[in-house]
Amino acid sequence: MAGSVIDNIAVAEEQLKGAELASKLKSSVVFKGDKSIRDASLKLDPKDMAWWRDAKFGMFIHWGLYAIPARGEWVMNNEKIPSEEYAKLADQFAPKHFDSDRWARITKNAGMKYMVLTARHHDGFALWDSPSSYKEFCSAKTAAKRDFVAEYTAACRKAGLGVGLYYSPMDWRFPGYFQPKELSDNADMMKKQGYGQIEELMSKYGKIDILWYDGGWLAHNGTDADAAWFWEPLMLNKMVRKYQPKAVINPRSGWEGDFQCDEGGHDITGPIINIPWEKCLNLNKSSWGYNKHQNTMSSDEIIRMLINVVGRGGNVLLNVGPDPDGVIPPPHVKILEEVGRWLEENGKGIYGTRPGPFQPVDGKYCSTFKEDKVYIHLLDLAGQKELVLPALGRKIISSSMISGEELSFIQSNSLIRISIPAWNKVKPPAVIELVLDESL
Ligand code: GLC
Repeated sequence: MAGSVIDNIAVAEEQLKGAELASKLKSSVVFKGDKSIRDASLKLDPKDMAWWRDAKFGMFIHWGLYAIPARGEWVMNNEKIPSEEYAKLADQFAPKHFDSDRWARITKNAGMKYMVLTARHHDGFALWDSPSSYKEFCSAKTAAKRDFVAEYTAACRKAGLGVGLYYSPMDWRFPGYFQPKELSDNADMMKKQGYGQIEELMSKYGKIDILWYDGGWLAHNGTDADAAWFWEPLMLNKMVRKYQPKAVINPRSGWEGDFQCDEGGHDITGPIINIPWEKCLNLNKSSWGYNKHQNTMSSDEIIRMLINVVGRGGNVLLNVGPDPDGVIPPPHVKILEEVGRWLEENGKGIYGTRPGPFQPVDGKYCSTFKEDKVYIHLLDLAGQKELVLPALGRKIISSSMISGEELSFIQSNSLIRISIPAWNKVKPPAVIELVLDESL
């Protein structure tokens, strides 16, 4: 049958009405790196991004000295703790139960395919043996006497997970960060540390699959791109590409990167976004770093978020904050396991798919496809007996729940009608699989 997927989406869009049309017209996604400097020569080829686009779901880990006060990773800045005072936390940072293999197991059991660890956050404390660190502020030279990045990267690889490192070039210990023009010598020291540490991370730990920058702005003002005169992100990323030609790089260095980021727990609505993008958010909504205050997402919320993001072309990077001892809080592990169980049953509608061919309808359904299969993720159909979809331009051969139950359907030139089981409450989301006569 003639017609590309794009044509089919266009056909479907012409028939949009009501809620579907409203959803098409607004998107809740906000991309932080929108204004970043472009340089196509640094960007990965789409074929080198394919693994990342297929993976869909990753684990973000914020872990560092800030886990000790347990008031979030911004505690040093928020509470104006002087650097010398904050540095004393390193004397107590000697986790007995840090076990990166266990982190990797939890990640895999959640159905996640890659990890991103805060190798160094804005407080300046490096989780590896870092010769470039200002004042030797790193885990190998303080109480822990361990190179956590080495242990973590090895564990990810052993488990078959993509290896991601988060790095914040900015460092609150440098007054020059807050006054880059007035205290330019000090700011330059911070920049030199940043280049040196990124080079260490990119050259000493084998293949790095993801480099995730954060905090490219200066004095907490403006955008990452506004600070590009200082960080010179094109030069920085050229250096990164020398060591890691295939690393997937995020947009927060001031250069546009290989994908866009949407940050935070807000709902995702609106149409499919046809560029690689990732939503990062917190399982414990209180903060990224370990926090005594717990305000966790439920597994149902996480699954719905995953569907809403994947159905619009994105990935989800879900964060946990291990405690000072390196342990991911057991209630978080339980929630992640519930998500993993859902993915075990429904993952074929998630992994390796692309969004469409139907545009999402906010709060109702999203669709994904892979070859000759289309997956309709039902978010809320309580009380409905049938699902009405726009025409597809392909013949549907069969329709069933992913769990196996056959569903009757009618396909005409203008509509598809699928009868759905008489659920009173659809929870957690259920997935329909359509088999087509030909790949999309
Ligand atoms: C923000 C915060 C930071 C967190 C990050 C995650 O930029 O400064 O604490 O690490 O977002 O996306």
